[in-house]
Amino acid sequence: MTETSLHTDLPCIGMHQLPNRVILAPMAGVTDRPFRQRCRELGAGLVVSEMVTSDKRLWNTVKSRTRMNHAGEPGPRAVQIAGGDAEMLAEAAALNAEMGAEIIDINMGCPAKKVCNKAAGSALMRDERLVGEILDAVVRAVDIPVTLKMRTGWCDDTRNALIIARMAESAGIQALSIHGRTRQQKYTGEAEYDTIAAVKAAVSIPIFANGDIDSGEKARHVLDYTGADAVMIGRAAQGNPWIFREINHYLATGQVACGPSDAERAHVMRTHLEALYEFYGDYMGVRIARKHVGWYLATREDGSELKRHFNPLEEPDDQRQFLTRLFGEPEGIARTETQGSHAA
Ligand SMILES: Cc1cc2nc3c(=O)[nH]c(=O)nc-3n(C[C@H](O)[C@H](O)[C@H](O)COP(=O)(O)O)c2cc1C
Repeated sequence: MTETSLHTDLPCIGMHQLPNRVILAPMAGVTDRPFRQRCRELGAGLVVSEMVTSDKRLWNTVKSRTRMNHAGEPGPRAVQIAGGDAEMLAEAAALNAEMGAEIIDINMGCPAKKVCNKAAGSALMRDERLVGEILDAVVRAVDIPVTLKMRTGWCDDTRNALIIARMAESAGIQALSIHGRTRQQKYTGEAEYDTIAAVKAAVSIPIFANGDIDSGEKARHVLDYTGADAVMIGRAAQGNPWIFREINHYLATGQVACGPSDAERAHVMRTHLEALYEFYGDYMGVRIARKHVGWYLATREDGSELKRHFNPLEEPDDQRQFLTRLFGEPEGIARTETQGSHAA
């Protein structure tokens, strides 16, 4: 029996049943197609694209075009849209559906300044009337499932996730991701899961719990504490796409999976870098690789020193040779499901 087949009640987003309970969070500047592919290969049950602005006048920029490129990606393709105008969001949803999106996710979770300056992202949560208009307009505009990603509220005094969750359910939203922080908290303090538990108890659409989940044990705890249908992983996946396999393994067995071998680490990093060169071209690919390689190396004692050597490299071949010096010549590797495990 496979690990995922142990579950009988895996969450569905409309007609799409997820293969497990571990989802990659949308992260602008991180969850591009090359990274999403690594996460999917290593067990993410769903991946969500970086947010795309609802202002289609901006879609002709290189940034928007690469964000909207899903060529060759397996389904279901979840595309996140961000904006503050109901009609523009509805049109953006419909156009993305025409271009191949299979799930539309509305961003009410992101505190990024440039989104919030236009009263978008998590700033929307302050205006419940506008939230209602947006949810109705987007759901009406497409015949694919629409999901919503939000925070627990605007600030401590207006923790209105429950009100918005009920509005979302009656508008026809098919699943909700909730980051256990208010907008005002940004990323400070610790995520709380009581609000997520309260939302789960109040609505019957699938709930995905998000915030500070960085291990199988934490995922198990959050699922049990909130009753959520899945966990959503953001920062803990940076430089660590293996976290999806490790959480799946823990949820299925209660055992902590050992991390990847050096050979597998090298293989995944090489595959990731080649995908970046292919996707962005050599010039941008080399630069974007620096950020990801920095994260991959961050857990090593010599990580900072290695990054100092890696960052000035200007050509794909220089970066390839760096990995060869670090890990040896590329070799075919047989990737096992868990690379061994030990009791929790
Ligand atoms: C670099 C970065 C970019 C992000 N971009 C988005 C985004 O485009 N849309 C969104 O809804 N949330 C965005 N987020 C928020 C994450 O999806 C997630 O809710 C948050 O990081 C909390 O989860 P974590 O503790 O697992 O990282 C971003 C977070 C980070 C760190």
